Amino acid sequence: MQKSPHIPVLYREVTEAFDVCKEGIIIDCTLGYGGHTSLLLDADANRQLIGIDQDPTAIAFSTQRLEPYGDRVQIRQGRFSAVAKSLLSEYTDQVCGILADIGVSSLQLDVRERGFSYESDTLDMRMDPNALLCASAVVNDYSQSTLEHILREYGEVTNARQVAQTIVQRRPFESAKQLSDAIFHLMPRGKKIHPSTLVMQAIRIEVNDELGELTRLLDAIESGPQKRLRVAIITFHSLEDRIVKQRFMTWAKNCICPDDAMRCTCGNNNAIGKVVTKKPLSAQEDELRSNSRSRSAKLRIFEINR
Ligand SMILES: C[S@@+](CC[C@H](N)C(=O)[O-])C[C@H]1O[C@@H](n2cnc3c(N)ncnc32)[C@H](O)[C@@H]1O
Repeated sequence: MQKSPHIPVLYREVTEAFDVCKEGIIIDCTLGYGGHTSLLLDADANRQLIGIDQDPTAIAFSTQRLEPYGDRVQIRQGRFSAVAKSLLSEYTDQVCGILADIGVSSLQLDVRERGFSYESDTLDMRMDPNALLCASAVVNDYSQSTLEHILREYGEVTNARQVAQTIVQRRPFESAKQLSDAIFHLMPRGKKIHPSTLVMQAIRIEVNDELGELTRLLDAIESGPQKRLRVAIITFHSLEDRIVKQRFMTWAKNCICPDDAMRCTCGNNNAIGKVVTKKPLSAQEDELRSNSRSRSAKLRIFEINR
């Protein structure tokens, strides 16, 4: 068995989040290298886990890693928005929890051929290598205005117009490294992250439709048949965290009338549960020291009870 190339973030907090799921099925939407899944399996012998991932490398690794758990684990390959939706209907009465640890894994970032890093010799960034859209198409084919929009919205790049213009003038690019070198001088210095990181993040979010996937996952959970369900979502940047925070707040609201309504006509009984974490949980000191990736991780938990 290979050593895991990815350390699960917020491992204590995730384990505790599902203490309420004494038995039944927990869906791990982002199986990755099986870190959270194995922690949750170890924490309670009566549980089953179903892990989803769109990356065949992660699926192959976890299939081997989780073999000792036998039929307590099932593994599904695909996009979590679609797979989780069908699992929630298939296992209506059994599913008691759902976890998503959104984003890329350390292995995806570290393997240069995957094209996620600004040092990569390729321009790919697909979590699913069979997906139609790759980073090369975004960088080399998108219009300047669309690139500017992506950089501003998904990377919060302050000089998005200037960066998009430079990309269009200097393309075609064959590698993330070439792209990073071309925009390096335009990016702010002095922060802890590499200057090209936000541009890479924006392109990666577009390639993998990360915000769309998260939104559709929340839609699937909201319209799912479960009366009780523990939902735990880990995000790594403010855009995703905002989507989760706002959706959880909506789920906890009894009155869903428009803000300017003169009186309540909705029945004031629309909450589907309660927010468990008023503020997101973040990594404790010891975890920050041992896993730098935990630095920006935020965990929000919601208890559906309808
Ligand atoms: C941060 S890693 C998860 C690591 C995992 N929690 C562990 O402990 O090993 C995120 C994983 O989710 C997968 N992923 C991200 N978005 C996905 C999506 N929309 N559908 C399916 N898998 C996705 C990625 O391929 C990656 O392997």
